Amino acid sequence: MTDESKIIFTHLSELVTVDPARMSSENPLGVIPDGAIGINGTTIGWVGTTREIPDEWEEAQWIDQSGLIALPGLIDSHTHPVFAGQRADEFEARLQGKTYLEIAQGGGGILKTVSATRSVSFDDLFLLAESRILESMRFGVTTMEAKSGYGLTTASEIKSLEVLKALNEDLPVDILPTFMGAHDIPPEYKGKTEDYVDLVCNEMIPAVAESGLAQFCDVFCEQGYFSVAQSRRILETGLKYGLSPRIHAEEFSDLEGAIMAVELGAYSADHLLHLSDKGVHLLAESDTVATLLPGTAFYLRLKDYAPARKLLDAGATVALATDFNPGSCMSQNIQLMMTLGCLQMGMLPHEAIRAVTLNAAKALGKSHDRGSLTVGKRADIALFSLSTYHELLYHLGMNFLSQLWIEGEPVLISETEMQLEQTSLN
Ligand code: NIG
Ligand code: FE
Repeated sequence: MTDESKIIFTHLSELVTVDPARMSSENPLGVIPDGAIGINGTTIGWVGTTREIPDEWEEAQWIDQSGLIALPGLIDSHTHPVFAGQRADEFEARLQGKTYLEIAQGGGGILKTVSATRSVSFDDLFLLAESRILESMRFGVTTMEAKSGYGLTTASEIKSLEVLKALNEDLPVDILPTFMGAHDIPPEYKGKTEDYVDLVCNEMIPAVAESGLAQFCDVFCEQGYFSVAQSRRILETGLKYGLSPRIHAEEFSDLEGAIMAVELGAYSADHLLHLSDKGVHLLAESDTVATLLPGTAFYLRLKDYAPARKLLDAGATVALATDFNPGSCMSQNIQLMMTLGCLQMGMLPHEAIRAVTLNAAKALGKSHDRGSLTVGKRADIALFSLSTYHELLYHLGMNFLSQLWIEGEPVLISETEMQLEQTSLN
């Protein structure tokens, strides 16, 4: 008789555990060839080689996964999926030489998306975000952080966070919500940034905290957006209300926002294209993860990428994420970001894989229950039709995802092409 609650995958070409207890300089991702992994309900029950499977897994449902490699479900730790409209015109304007900041000053940018997002209903926003998040899953994502920040009024920020809550309940992917009311200064506060910061601190953060709709508070610390002092005030207020800080820092200039975020004990400081050597060392000495978003530099055609090599060599924890948003990186392809991390920032394949698994889990304060294939963690597993993880980075622009499992359930299965298993989505 089979025990329905137990499943074991066998004959994986590589079980890429990313488990620190199995990692060494010769085997930097703790890879087990001819691997097997046992799932017990929603969590991982056993990990090893197919040959070593213990007797107690005899009754489990055995699934031969020959020809596939297994990775921990990928984690996209920085996304902005709740928005209406699109900004394809900006794509062209950039090709004609305009910069991101020039486009924003000329009526495009975040505020263009704010106006579109404010005008749609909850249901429309839900459907738009849902289809985008399903695309993220198709690339192997099992956990994603998602920000508000295209409403910029108390009611519309709450509406975006409610959309994320409803999606988290409806979709198998785990969505961790971030309040980002300090994404830009809305038109009704033009020239009155301090007044808007007052609104964020005195009204929005208390309302968001009371609703229980967000875990994190983020801010766009940048010239023309929020200064370091304003960002600090917002993040400290968030902390007081139980929202963990994260930051968009050093994207277009070095204001030392990341250093401030380290001081506040942020889980993550993101972008960091213009991070100074001082910033590199402070991050390396801290528990704050450096989350790099090479898709944004690529998409905006910037010449500077974040100093990934310096950060890694100094001992910092580096994560990679998409920054999926309608302006600076319209892509949910986390696998592409891994390849860009290698080609544009000099990361090695094993560093790019850690960056979207264990390190991304740490950037979200979740490394205790996900990010590696370790006994006791969530059974979030991405299977790819490849014989080794090196091919995942090397075969540019492809998607070899074959199966996606979240908490022990199959949520996407591909036959000849990927198909959503409606039954398990309910
Ligand atoms: O992470 N930098 C701020 N926010 C986004 C861009 C959002 C947009 O352009 O709509 C980013 O790059
Ligand atoms: Fe962003």
